[in-house]
Amino acid sequence: MGKIILETKKLTKSYSNGKKKLDVIKNLNLKIDTAEIITIVGESGSGKTTLLNLLGGLDHPDSGELIILGKNILELNNNDISEFRNKDLGFIFQFHHLLPEFTAYENVLMPTLINDDVHDKEIMADELFEYVNLYDRKGHYPSELSGGERLRVAVLRALINRPALILADEPTGNLDADNSKKLMKLFKKINSDFNQTFIITTHNPVVAKIGTRCLKMINGRLRKNNL
Ligand SMILES: Nc1ncnc2c1ncn2[C@@H]1O[C@H](COP(=O)(O)OP(=O)(O)O)[C@@H](O)[C@H]1O
Ligand SMILES: [Mg+2]
Repeated sequence: MGKIILETKKLTKSYSNGKKKLDVIKNLNLKIDTAEIITIVGESGSGKTTLLNLLGGLDHPDSGELIILGKNILELNNNDISEFRNKDLGFIFQFHHLLPEFTAYENVLMPTLINDDVHDKEIMADELFEYVNLYDRKGHYPSELSGGERLRVAVLRALINRPALILADEPTGNLDADNSKKLMKLFKKINSDFNQTFIITTHNPVVAKIGTRCLKMINGRLRKNNL
């Protein structure tokens, strides 16, 4: 067993639409070790995105605890949580969310702008572009990249601050089979080269398979999913 990087205790989240209350996450307990790749499958509407948003501090649970890197995240104030998200977490979404008016290189450096050591980060950005074979594309704008390339740039942006944990919500949702495979190869490489921990939600069995553990969201909780 490695070091625990994330733990939830009885995490609970519901939405209310008028009179109706929808319980999405119910007393969810989860422990994740450093360098695990956790893949989460589950039917559409089962609560995968809701869970990832809670884990990433983008949304607040109704009750329960969330501990990441030994910190009780739900007790942090808004400033501290923003800093924590920027420094220790990386996010990758189905829609890359790259800023269209900035180049790939500028997009990757965006999360470092609030840091002091910008020069070090530029060196690292260059290395990262080499790492994913996109060095010759770093001056391209998002509209001048293929779908797979855009996602890889989004991965570099998530990596640039060397976060402890990367959260990816349906990262291959918009990619074809070939590009999905390439992206999974990259995730595995990053995992083994940097001991990077990942939590990935997906519909795609190919993606689910790369997990060191695959879990399934059922009735607001996670069960072990044997592939
Ligand atoms: N902001 C919201 N307000 C009300 N209901 C929501 C909201 N966001 C999501 N839901 C509902 O919560 C459930 C879980 O959604 P979601 O986490 O997006 O599922 P998944 O990512 O597994 O498809 C769905 O039934 C969805 O309709
Ligand atoms: Mg979703």
